[in-house]
Amino acid sequence: MSNLNNDSMGKRLDSVAIIMDGNGRWAKMRGLSRSEGHKAGAKAVAEVLKLFREYGVHHLTLYAFSTENWKRPKEEVDALMELIYMYVENVVIKTLIKEKDLCVRFIGDKSVLPEKLREKCIEAEEMAKDRPFVCNVGLNYGGRDEIVRAANRAFSDGHRELSEKILSGYMYTAGSPDPDLVIRTGGDFRISNFLLWQSAYSEFIILDTLWPDFGRSDIDKCIKEYYSRNRRFGGLDPEDGESEANIT
Ligand code: IPE
Ligand code: IPE
Ligand code: MG
Repeated sequence: MSNLNNDSMGKRLDSVAIIMDGNGRWAKMRGLSRSEGHKAGAKAVAEVLKLFREYGVHHLTLYAFSTENWKRPKEEVDALMELIYMYVENVVIKTLIKEKDLCVRFIGDKSVLPEKLREKCIEAEEMAKDRPFVCNVGLNYGGRDEIVRAANRAFSDGHRELSEKILSGYMYTAGSPDPDLVIRTGGDFRISNFLLWQSAYSEFIILDTLWPDFGRSDIDKCIKEYYSRNRRFGGLDPEDGESEANIT
């Protein structure tokens, strides 16, 4: 593991989530179709997984397709579904799971995905379940949809009253730690319905880099920035807490 990700400050970067935005703009700048931009975006994924893993990040959650992305032209949506299918078959299954010892979970409502994609995702999930490095892929994922589903599932299991712990257990991400860090490429300062429940105390970094260009230098920048942040979780900085305690 690289020295960059260390816990000398009592802080560890173990879980990272990424809103992989900017494929369309990347393509437009080059006079290419939006689908070409998505292809370039897909190419960036495996290297990013490898680099975060080298840094000792055990949980990576990638936003690939939102519940709102169905609003896009059919041609783009169809091309994306085909691209994701090919990626799951050729990269996720053949390389990431079989050779790289990764465990992949698709978070989101799979029921409305094209059947062959849904089956491919389930096949990939079934291949490996308990491995230390986990990649969650948001596919037809929406944070609001996830919360409503979780509540409904809890009620249908007989819970009459919910707690944070009960509801967390019904989220797609149950069992995974909340993201320490959420990165968004493409420069927009918004969450776009991603991990609304889980990101309550995540650190956020917005980069202008468009997703297909995201790589090692951005990752290094994000990790350094993360370690410069002071996570208080509603409490006080350790030194301030001490002086308060001395006063009382
Ligand atoms: C993100 O890139 C990928 C998906 C939402 C599927 P975009 O396609 O949103 O790229 P921009 O934001 O138009 O540049
Ligand atoms: C967020 O990007 C969704 C994904 C990266 C999959 P969008 O491009 O859909 O977000 P908005 O529409 O700019 O908020
Ligand atoms: Mg976008």
